[in-house]
Amino acid sequence: MKKTNNVFQIPSFTTAQALLTLAAEGERLKIENQKMAEMMARTILKALDCKDHYTFGHSMRVAYFSLVTGSELGLTEDEMKELELSAIFHDIGKIGTPDQVLNKPSRLTEEEFAIMKQHPELSYEILKEYPSLEKIGLNARYHHERYDGRGYPEGMKGEEIPLFARIILIADTFDAMTSTRPYRKGLDYSVAFDELNQFSGSQFDPKCVTAFIEGMRKESLKGEDEFLIPLLDRKFSKNAA
Ligand SMILES: [Fe+2]
Repeated sequence: MKKTNNVFQIPSFTTAQALLTLAAEGERLKIENQKMAEMMARTILKALDCKDHYTFGHSMRVAYFSLVTGSELGLTEDEMKELELSAIFHDIGKIGTPDQVLNKPSRLTEEEFAIMKQHPELSYEILKEYPSLEKIGLNARYHHERYDGRGYPEGMKGEEIPLFARIILIADTFDAMTSTRPYRKGLDYSVAFDELNQFSGSQFDPKCVTAFIEGMRKESLKGEDEFLIPLLDRKFSKNAA
């Protein structure tokens, strides 16, 4: 750089080179940041698996059901990544829920239910610590909001609720209905689809219910026993038993 009449003149070739170097550095940092976020994500998931193996498996199935819905809705590749992470981490706040409440086989008391209901906000509190995961945290925070406004924590309504939170609610409820637990047998898929249809428009976003059921119909035609979770590059059994 040379100084002429108190004005700094940067030869244009050098400027172009400097900009290219900056752009390459920016891209490298972005990839680096993405890798860090993924490593962080895997670490948090290990912690969840140690604390509560059922919720870990449930979260993987919820991610699968959410991705089936997202694909049917025609989401982009980046949106599918965001949806996958949001679904994987929707219940991460259960790390902070006491075991006696989390694993209670019988009906929760009012007080226990109030504790249980804190988990979406805890999910957000955990995820927001890492800037790249804040949006994922918001989707997790609102996964118990209902389409008719009768959900929690804020009682948001309809399209006010982030789309991915609306998708996750359906995937979450479907897995809860179809999973076999020590105290009850899971419902058949066909019965659970009827339940979703029954509450479409009240509890659930109707477009998302339609997309989920249609996506699952296409999935069943593939005849596969396992699904892939891209973040972990690992396959899981579709059988929730
Ligand atoms: Fe939940």
